[in-house]
Amino acid sequence: MKNIVITGGAGFIGSHVVRLFVTKYPQYKIINLDALTYAGNLENLADIDSMPNYTFEKVNILDVPEVERVFKQYQVTDVIHLAAESHVDRSIHSPLDFVFTNVLGTVNLLNAAKKNWADDFSDKLFYHISTDEVYGALGSTGFFTETTPYHPNSPYSASKASSDHFVRAYGETYELPFVISNCSNNYGPNHFPEKLIPLLINNIISKKALPVYGDGLYTRDWLYVKDHATAIDTIFHAKKVGETFNIGGFNEWKNIDLVKLLCKLMDEKLGNQPGTSEALITFVKDRPGHDRRYAIDATKINRELGWKPSVTFEQGLSETIDWYLNNQEWLNHVTSGSYKDYYNKMYDNS
Ligand code: NAD
Ligand code: DAU
Repeated sequence: MKNIVITGGAGFIGSHVVRLFVTKYPQYKIINLDALTYAGNLENLADIDSMPNYTFEKVNILDVPEVERVFKQYQVTDVIHLAAESHVDRSIHSPLDFVFTNVLGTVNLLNAAKKNWADDFSDKLFYHISTDEVYGALGSTGFFTETTPYHPNSPYSASKASSDHFVRAYGETYELPFVISNCSNNYGPNHFPEKLIPLLINNIISKKALPVYGDGLYTRDWLYVKDHATAIDTIFHAKKVGETFNIGGFNEWKNIDLVKLLCKLMDEKLGNQPGTSEALITFVKDRPGHDRRYAIDATKINRELGWKPSVTFEQGLSETIDWYLNNQEWLNHVTSGSYKDYYNKMYDNS
């Protein structure tokens, strides 16, 4: 019997992980623990929220008594920890929010696990979900492996690196059983439109400028979110305590090439003349401290656990665009209210 707390389950990746676990493992009890910040949205889980093995708890991981209550009330056996402040641009404006949730919040969860599992660690697991950004920036060649030294460059990546260190420290010091995975950029349904791909889709739909930072030659390594969820499932069940796995799909794209591909696909789907969306591309002020290139070496997870991505980038992007075109109500909900203020501040009313 497993009672698994998934933190951040109302967010982008978390909602896909919750859905996968709730539907694939009816014998597990899944507790979605989420504070519902601007990035958390229960609409993401409307299709599964009445399943008997699913429970939602609106709890902030900074609230120690509430986290403690959840551990006790549900006799928690495992944690899959995704809750975080996740957007690099926001971390540049409000770094402390990232220190609180990503560092302090993670330590609160570690303390709760250590305290409540003290009798017997053997059938427990603290699975921490992290990012490739902890490794810093690559030059034009090479890959991040599990042994690449940490070199975070943004307040976001520094806070995630710090949380990874705390998780490993609890493993060394208190023998808390943990695993960590570091994944590359995700894309797919339910992605909040402050991030590049959904922001572009939303702006193309509303015929707004497509902001490309700097020279557009920054490189990211993209993975479909449902493939990240299956990787998390695989790593969780392999239970290789104390290990780290990099997750990625060997799928590097320069931002400008990705933007042009997306424009082409959107024009086809919307029945636009070729070139219509590309005409919206606008080069804007660069992100401070912008990491030039990320690229994950995902050999270890493939070799040791047999995991690999299930879709090509073209398939994944096409499914993603279709999802946004078919879920414009979702898009309207998340872009009303505070999103407008964020957008105007970031993009100077463009
Ligand atoms: P997201 O911003 O879409 O969702 C974060 C979720 O965490 C939201 O539901 C939010 O309400 C919740 N949350 C935030 N602060 C909280 C708090 N104090 N207490 C409880 N809940 C809180 O993030 P995402 O893109 O889904 O990322 C999930 C995790 O995966 C993060 O840890 C992130 O660092 C990591 N990650 C993301 C990517 C990516 O490309 N998005 C890639 C690699 C790793
Ligand atoms: O690498 C994993 C990380 O990927 C995760 O840990 C983060 O949570 C996630 O947000 C993502 O970080 P990035 O900063 O890479 O993603 P973002 O979508 O913000 O930006 C992708 C690239 O596009 C980056 O080079 C910046 C650029 N960009 C972004 C935005 C929002 C633009 O050119 N214009 C934009 O408007």
